[in-house]
Amino acid sequence: MRASLAPRPTPGSRDRTILLLPPGFLSEIAALVDQELGHLLPAESVDPARLHSAMRYSSFAGGKRIRPVLIVLGGEACGGKRQDLLAPAAAMEMIHCFSLIHDDLPALDNDDLRRGQPSLHRQFDEATAILAGDALLNLALELLALTPESATAEARNANVVSAARAVGTFGMIGGQMADLLGEKVGPLAPEEAATLLESIHRRKTGALLEASLTIGGRCAGASSVKLDALSRLGQSLGLLFQIRDDILDIEGDPEKIGKTAGKDIEAAKLTYPSLFGIEGSKQRLKQEAADSRQSILELEPSLAQDSLLELVRFLEDRDH
Ligand code: IPE
Ligand code: IPE
Ligand code: MG
Ligand code: MG
Ligand code: MG
Repeated sequence: MRASLAPRPTPGSRDRTILLLPPGFLSEIAALVDQELGHLLPAESVDPARLHSAMRYSSFAGGKRIRPVLIVLGGEACGGKRQDLLAPAAAMEMIHCFSLIHDDLPALDNDDLRRGQPSLHRQFDEATAILAGDALLNLALELLALTPESATAEARNANVVSAARAVGTFGMIGGQMADLLGEKVGPLAPEEAATLLESIHRRKTGALLEASLTIGGRCAGASSVKLDALSRLGQSLGLLFQIRDDILDIEGDPEKIGKTAGKDIEAAKLTYPSLFGIEGSKQRLKQEAADSRQSILELEPSLAQDSLLELVRFLEDRDH
């Protein structure tokens, strides 16, 4: 399941399963982020040990580390050094883990499985899961305020504001609320449903992806023009990412996605496939991929730009 454990693709191979493997730079960055998380998270032995064990259980359960990768590539695309981007990248993964822990709780999606293992409230208990999520968010905001030391205090401050907004009522948390309320909305006119759906996905998933790219850019002292390009890229990547997630809930192999399949249909969620069908969803995904490529081409040519293009291809086709 872990991207970092996947072998590198064999150049020139036409095997479909090999094409679906994540590109090598993903596993390289994921390994560095794992190391950073290991340093930054309190040790399991530190009091309260149960809380710290829970935070580590979730953080090391084996995620793809897409948000940290976006911080690193967003920063490197603006001339930043990888070493300076790792602490903010780890912070963003902590925020993501918090969102997943709470998303799986019985009061939200009630999911027993995450990243191929029991979700946190199943492995520990609900109270510990709620507190571990809260603690990860707070540690992340502290880290964004303090790192990287190479960035100006003004840039770090802007990063904290950006992360807090992306998580908040107009971002992920607001999107999660709308997602839950969406389970209960009655029949809507098709246009109204499409607008609501896009707005949910932009908030619950897109906001954190967009913030990851711009936080990376700010760490590297990016100009407002570059930050705007990263922002546009984050918006299309956010939709692309969640449309693929919706498709995988239906078409995905449970062994590979590491979470319970069919949960969206069971909960009558408003998703791209529920509104546009699988083929319609795939077409929209293609459109978001094309928009993402366009935004990437607006950045200056660099290795990071090439990696971002490869990342779009991976996210478009991912099977986990
Ligand atoms: C899952 O995100 C939650 C969504 C926003 C769709 P990921 O697919 O990035 O989850 P991990 O971190 O790789 O497990
Ligand atoms: C979750 O969306 C978005 C979050 C803010 C975590 P989903 O509920 O579709 O994510 P999965 O499918 O459980 O990973
Ligand atoms: Mg959910
Ligand atoms: Mg869920
Ligand atoms: Mg999902």
